[in-house]
Amino acid sequence: MTTESKNILLAGDGTMRAEQRMDMSNRHGLIAGATGTGKTVTLQVLAEGFARAGVPVFAVDVKGDLSGISQPGRPHKEIDRRVNLLGLSDYKASPHPTLFWDIFGERGHPVRTTISEMGPDILAALLDLNETQTGILYACFAIADDEGLLLLDLKDLRSLLAFMSDNAKALRGEYGNISSASVGAIQRRLLVLEAQGGELLFGEPAIALKDLMQKDFSGIGVVSLLDAEQLVRESPKLYAAFLLWLLSELFEELPEAGDLEQPKIVLFFDEAHLLFKDMPKGLLEKVEQVFRLIRSKAVGIYLITQSPLDVPENVLGQMGMKIQHALRAFTPKDQRAIRAVAAGFRNDTGVDVVGTITNLGLGEALVSSLNEDGAPTSVVAGTVPPPQAQIGPIDDVTRAKAIADSPMSGRYETEIDRDSAFELLAARTEAAAQRAEREAAEEAKEKQEQAAQKEAERQARKQRQRSGGSRRQSAGEAFVKSTLRSVGRSLGSRLVRGILGSLLK
Ligand SMILES: Nc1ncnc2c1ncn2[C@@H]1O[C@H](COP(=O)(O)OP(=O)(O)O)[C@@H](O)[C@H]1O
Ligand SMILES: [Mg+2]
Repeated sequence: MTTESKNILLAGDGTMRAEQRMDMSNRHGLIAGATGTGKTVTLQVLAEGFARAGVPVFAVDVKGDLSGISQPGRPHKEIDRRVNLLGLSDYKASPHPTLFWDIFGERGHPVRTTISEMGPDILAALLDLNETQTGILYACFAIADDEGLLLLDLKDLRSLLAFMSDNAKALRGEYGNISSASVGAIQRRLLVLEAQGGELLFGEPAIALKDLMQKDFSGIGVVSLLDAEQLVRESPKLYAAFLLWLLSELFEELPEAGDLEQPKIVLFFDEAHLLFKDMPKGLLEKVEQVFRLIRSKAVGIYLITQSPLDVPENVLGQMGMKIQHALRAFTPKDQRAIRAVAAGFRNDTGVDVVGTITNLGLGEALVSSLNEDGAPTSVVAGTVPPPQAQIGPIDDVTRAKAIADSPMSGRYETEIDRDSAFELLAARTEAAAQRAEREAAEEAKEKQEQAAQKEAERQARKQRQRSGGSRRQSAGEAFVKSTLRSVGRSLGSRLVRGILGSLLK
């Protein structure tokens, strides 16, 4: 098979064909359009094309309607119409190898990552932390990093924060001011995150990238679908955090690849506006950079959203392929979006973009992709081909069977909880409590003796109090140091990788 034949037909009208070149597919893309105009089916057509070309696909399935990609398409006259219109002589109804994933572990294999893999940048954004709180979170990761404490799940993070708060004085010298009010604020936000299902996202076994980058025995890319119905509805922050984690993980793990004949993986993020909504400016800048830099890792990102205005300008500018389904022109904001779309297309042939965009039918679109030189092709309007797999969702029985029969079955189902910060600090706290009891007894005894010398000179007593104070503090400091040391040293490797932070600072 030549590279040429692997290119994906995006739209046509019988005479013209707009294609997505495989060797330009690491240059990202956007699928936009109002609700019910054909975005998800277009996403499916692209995903199928990549899979058949041997490219693994990761896609967020917001409404469950992408799951049909796992089943062969059913005959329908609308499919026949498109096949005839576009002259698709090799059209064949076919299923695609599919893995189902679900952070809640109900509609797919559980998806987990660890706190330390997530890193402080994404977490701070996820928790909406202010500058002071972010500083404390950084200190928390620094302590974990310096001392090799494992931060795997939410209770690890909570217990290390509590430890920091309890030992703020002793830690101040090395890690800065740790106010208990700020720690308290972070703890409260962690509770909210927990209520949104954060406890399920953070833990082990963490998902391995290679499991998302598979081909089946015949060389077809495996489609991984993240079920996001519940996630998007109930935990939009968690959704954004997971996707950011995935991007940064790919960025960190994949080697530089330059321009390849085809990408190593493509990602489809539906409801992409949720990714950028309320994102702090600093994080947004990093995300923009990750979008830019991840291209050289042979990763293509495809965003699906209603209006191009949902996507930050610097991200929008990086979208090589653009598929624009119909937009409505009711509000001034709609009209702004339409003008932005028109301005964003290369248009050598004078296509009336503004006029066309409101009149596009279902599954019709304005399309521009990149040519062999990486320059955008002139915009054309056309009909999107039909998918080869089923349009619309599969039923729950079919899904359950697919999950049970999956090669990933059994790998992620059972959560493991190995000794990490929570367990180790709990053990240390226990030891510390005993020690504190001993110290308190000693102190009481000392006080009794002092009482006996009640008549002693005032100056001398003051002196004793001062030295007593400094003795207590240094004991506390020693305790913290020894706790961290004994917890940490055995673990060795540096565990916190600062993810987004490390690359761009
Ligand atoms: N390329 C296509 N081929 C066949 N039918 C399509 C195509 N695009 C859209 N449709 C039809 O339009 C319906 C709505 O499309 P969908 O992709 O779900 O819209 P959106 O995601 O924009 O809300 C689909 O269920 C399907 O019946
Ligand atoms: Mg849709």
